[in-house]
Amino acid sequence: MASRRSAPILRRLSKQTALVTGGTQGIGLAIARALLAEGCEVVITGRTQEKLDRAAKELANKRAVPMICDIRDLRSVRALFAGLKQRFDRLDILINNAGIGQVSKNIAELPLDSWSEVIETNLTGTFLVTQAALPLMRSGSAIVNNLSIAAKEVFPGSAAYCASKHGALGFTNTLREELRPKKIRVIALLPGATDTAIWKAVWPDAPRKKMMPPEAVATAVVNALAIPESATIEELVIRPSIGVL
Ligand SMILES: NC(=O)c1ccc[n+]([C@@H]2O[C@H](COP(=O)([O-])OP(=O)(O)OC[C@H]3O[C@@H](n4cnc5c(N)ncnc54)[C@H](OP(=O)(O)O)[C@@H]3O)[C@@H](O)[C@H]2O)c1
Repeated sequence: MASRRSAPILRRLSKQTALVTGGTQGIGLAIARALLAEGCEVVITGRTQEKLDRAAKELANKRAVPMICDIRDLRSVRALFAGLKQRFDRLDILINNAGIGQVSKNIAELPLDSWSEVIETNLTGTFLVTQAALPLMRSGSAIVNNLSIAAKEVFPGSAAYCASKHGALGFTNTLREELRPKKIRVIALLPGATDTAIWKAVWPDAPRKKMMPPEAVATAVVNALAIPESATIEELVIRPSIGVL
């Protein structure tokens, strides 16, 4: 019993292969850094080479592999997985993190383009990446879908974002039941306000100092992944202690 308790549980993640979509900045970059610190090989993706290069330079780790991918585009997702399969024979951890916010507009004024961009990224993109990843995932692997507290709560002026995240929660809960027999764990991550660039378009004057740093979310994710495989944290809600949003 004593030896069990003293086991370094986080070491379990070492040598695992991970894919973090939207790993060029913000929460994705923080999760990538935390997984690298645990000894994982981490593929980070983003839409532009420039931002990928900057992120790779920031991570400064040979086990960080930048690969371009726009998760809205099936061909781009297929190209990512073709590259991934050349390099790795399996994927142990998938972090579906890439996502965008929404310009604050009530439904009466929301342009169709804005609606579609948010739904295609946050909902359809998550589906496309997950579907492409499943053939590489085995018993013991895990999927974390970065949703938001907006997966359960609503914010006026954010209908597309809330609808995309509510939908992504339904997707995540269904995925968990489909993968349960295969012993692939599925975690719904629901962060509250986190200090990242996403707020620039959504609420430029948001009180950033009251938000969580992305590293707090990353630590919670790594710890959730590190619990024994016989258990799953199905839903991970993490909010700023002082409760801004
Ligand atoms: N910040 C918060 O308060 C908060 C709270 C709850 C949940 N979240 C969720 O956390 C996730 C990350 O957001 P963040 O706050 O870290 O925002 P962020 O700093 O703006 O980062 C977003 C990431 O997503 C990538 N991305 C966006 N569209 C993409 C696409 N079509 N294909 C591939 N990558 C794409 C971006 O990469 P490129 O620009 O390089 O393509 C970037 O790496 C999102 O799903 C967001 O909804 C954020």
